[in-house]
Amino acid sequence: MYRSRHKQDLDRRVLNFLSSVDIDDKILYYDILCTKAHVIMLYEIRILTKDELASIVNELDRVLRHPEKLVKEGFEDIHEALEGHLIRKIGVDVGGKVQTGRSRNDQVVTDIRIKARDDLIAILFHLIKLVRLLIQKAEENLNSVMPLYTHLQEAQLGNFAHYLLSYCSALLRDVSRLISLYDRVNESPLGSGPIGGSTLPLSRKRTAELLGFKKIISNTIDATSSRDFMIEFMSDITSIMITQSRIAQDIIIWSSQEFSFVEISDKHASSSSAMPQKKNPDPLELTRSKTAIVIGNLTSVMTILKSLPSGYTRDLQDTKIPFWNSIDITKSSLEIMRDIIDSLTIKKDMMVKASNNSYSISLDIAEALVMKERLPFRTAHRLVGSLVNNAFKKQIPLKSLDVTDIKEILQDMKISIEVDKLIRIITETDSQRSISTRRSLGSPNPREQIKSIKKYRMLLRKYVNDLQKMKRELASSKETITKTISHIIKSKSRPQYM
Ligand code: ARG
Repeated sequence: MYRSRHKQDLDRRVLNFLSSVDIDDKILYYDILCTKAHVIMLYEIRILTKDELASIVNELDRVLRHPEKLVKEGFEDIHEALEGHLIRKIGVDVGGKVQTGRSRNDQVVTDIRIKARDDLIAILFHLIKLVRLLIQKAEENLNSVMPLYTHLQEAQLGNFAHYLLSYCSALLRDVSRLISLYDRVNESPLGSGPIGGSTLPLSRKRTAELLGFKKIISNTIDATSSRDFMIEFMSDITSIMITQSRIAQDIIIWSSQEFSFVEISDKHASSSSAMPQKKNPDPLELTRSKTAIVIGNLTSVMTILKSLPSGYTRDLQDTKIPFWNSIDITKSSLEIMRDIIDSLTIKKDMMVKASNNSYSISLDIAEALVMKERLPFRTAHRLVGSLVNNAFKKQIPLKSLDVTDIKEILQDMKISIEVDKLIRIITETDSQRSISTRRSLGSPNPREQIKSIKKYRMLLRKYVNDLQKMKRELASSKETITKTISHIIKSKSRPQYM
């Protein structure tokens, strides 16, 4: 359709190779919104008459009602297909004016940004729902003592609430990152033309206002060819996915028979075609693999953008595929993760059993020796290490160690503390006490977790307010377009061009 100088049609195979028409389904709605704002402005600067505006808008609304009727074959993208449709339906005399003062270069990136605003808000809502659930589950598990792991080896004792809240803390940073990104997405490139603007008296500010953008991206080269907002967006959601893949990995490990700390619900587990006993955590495994895809998508977009000459080049079209794919993956993963955690069975008794059988209280014992017996920490570390070694060989807990063994260890190490005192410290240090005597800010001590829960709830309330404000502003901008069009069409002020 745009081939004014060419003597030949585009080769079929080449057309298929370069067309983005299928993936562009995702921006049909946004392209129509963008086109409405553009034609309102064209009416306001007297390039369109009221009747012309009305027939364009009517036809656009018809496409919105029946998107399946839009002919896409033979077009390079949705922009061309939509313009082609208008020209076919209302004639070139009216439909042929739609693209006045607009290029697909400023148009496509406007569509991408309008859609990105909606996506960003949707992801934030999913994210906030997940954080809210994690907080609720943490509140129910303040006393669910469990071993904490470093290098996947038992490290110190903690509790399940502390574990869950660690992910709230990380995900709340993602919320904050996305909220701050919103303003950088919410800037209008529309009206920049192909690269260098237009001689027509277009109002970039007016279309920006109609589309609910906070401001315009001033430089027309930057506006049409920069995609750093995509890198930022994808990097933020990749961070969300990486966090989710780690949660997935924990649940996978902890739902194995060997751990049995948690059990995912039947409705979230797959089975085996061969082994009747199997209950497999497939959706969590796919969360891990989809995280890899999202990382790859970010790499694809950055690699496409790297070294592009200034101004629009067609390479930019291919950033849409990984961008939207990452967004879709993030949305669905957040929803599924929420459902899985919501119906997860938490086996407190198994966690307590593992805690009691573990040597994760070793550091607490060493610290008690520092405080009560004034031992240098290094000496206490060596002493408890030897006790663990002895107990481990016999496969017994520290509190069941033989008095003579303890005496021998103390003698061998030339440590002059009373055996009775050492035994008292060992027996006093049970798992509950280990947690309740932890003093560091942010430790698993339930008192600390209660403070964190309060803090995170307050943060959530603030973020939900921000988000609702963003949502209200967007909804009202969509209404503005409809209201402005019906106001123009009803008003008697300017029926024709002048
Ligand atoms: N379909 C293109 C994209 O998605 C927009 C078209 C711009 N094409 C052009 N030849 N200037 O990026």
